[in-house]
Amino acid sequence: MSKPLDIRELKALAKRRVPKMFFDYADSGAWTEGTYRANEADFHDIKLRQRVLVDMTNRSLASTMIGQPVSMPVALSPTGLTGMQHADGEMLAAQAAEAFGVPFTLSTMSICSIEDVASVTKKPFWFQLYVMRDRDFVKNLIDRAKAAKCSALVLTLDLQILGQRHKDLRNGLSAPPKFTPKHIWQMATRPLWCMRMLKTQRRSFGNIVGHAKNVSDLSSLSSWTAEQFDPQLSWENVAEIKEMWGGPLILKGILDVEDAQMAARTGADAIIVSNHGGRQLDGARSSIGMLPRIVDAVGDKIEVHLDGGIRSGQDVLKAIALGAKGTYIGRPFLYGLGAMGGQGVTLALEIIRKELDITMALCGKRDIRDVSRDVISD
Ligand SMILES: Cc1cc2nc3c(=O)[nH]c(=O)nc-3n(C[C@H](O)[C@H](O)[C@H](O)COP(=O)(O)O)c2cc1C
Repeated sequence: MSKPLDIRELKALAKRRVPKMFFDYADSGAWTEGTYRANEADFHDIKLRQRVLVDMTNRSLASTMIGQPVSMPVALSPTGLTGMQHADGEMLAAQAAEAFGVPFTLSTMSICSIEDVASVTKKPFWFQLYVMRDRDFVKNLIDRAKAAKCSALVLTLDLQILGQRHKDLRNGLSAPPKFTPKHIWQMATRPLWCMRMLKTQRRSFGNIVGHAKNVSDLSSLSSWTAEQFDPQLSWENVAEIKEMWGGPLILKGILDVEDAQMAARTGADAIIVSNHGGRQLDGARSSIGMLPRIVDAVGDKIEVHLDGGIRSGQDVLKAIALGAKGTYIGRPFLYGLGAMGGQGVTLALEIIRKELDITMALCGKRDIRDVSRDVISD
């Protein structure tokens, strides 16, 4: 296959190279996957204004997210089990993001640990926190993120209980995992993936095993994870975490105007308008569908970011035009990783940068920081 030209082609290549259960884990949403599909579809419904005879030289995509410089306003989303798309996935993705000058966000549920990622990067990365019931473990995670000099904490709010994805259940990706000969066969038919996986030590949840109480093997890990998400998480807990962390804080998983107003009052540095990539509340609106209302309500009080459904530079431009100061990509970088390892993550970022640059120019803008709602067609 020739070099992928867009994220759709990277996805097709990842499908051929990653065992089905892990490809499906990325390419799935909750229940009917309606919200997952809406995240992408609603971007297509937004149309851009084509402008002509404006100076398109000397363009710049450089911006800031929470005051930190970024070469373009696109960060990598925190994604669990990334090291299962490709061996050492989090380390490879973090290195690609660092070289590109965009933030990498490490998930609590990563395969490579905070320390693994810190050991292969020079610049600070961001850490995503799930507030587990075991608050000693949470405190320990925050201390480890501080020790690794993480420059932002991304606190995920939309996973107090787990949504259900049918594909994962069918593929045995449940707690505890239920692997049948069919699933072993799925791995055996991806020999390169298997070889790399056999060479690495990193095949379990690196931030958890050896750090959480009574978690030593896959079985104890599965039951621990299943019980640990906290259904009683509250705004008071957000204040506690903010205090404990003491650094830049981003609240992830806001999809409602009232929640955005509450979030703005916490003193956090940014919110991410997000529905967890359509993996939690099926039937919720798309992120891009909610963005304008949330920006209108709180955009002058807190920085607003967006994730969900971004598959191209055109999508990034639309989100920025509708008021997001920064965006995140989840699946696009996972497809790159599954298709071609670290080089695939770089390719995903290059594809999006090129599309963003050309689209911005054809809309008559030279600086991403000058892009506003006037690039959107009525
Ligand atoms: C495979 C996968 C795993 C994810 N794991 C996490 C996670 O551990 N923590 C988290 O806050 N969000 C997680 N998310 C949600 C992403 O951070 C992000 O909100 C979403 O992927 C954005 O949508 P997109 O994939 O359409 O870009 C995950 C998403 C995917 C696709």
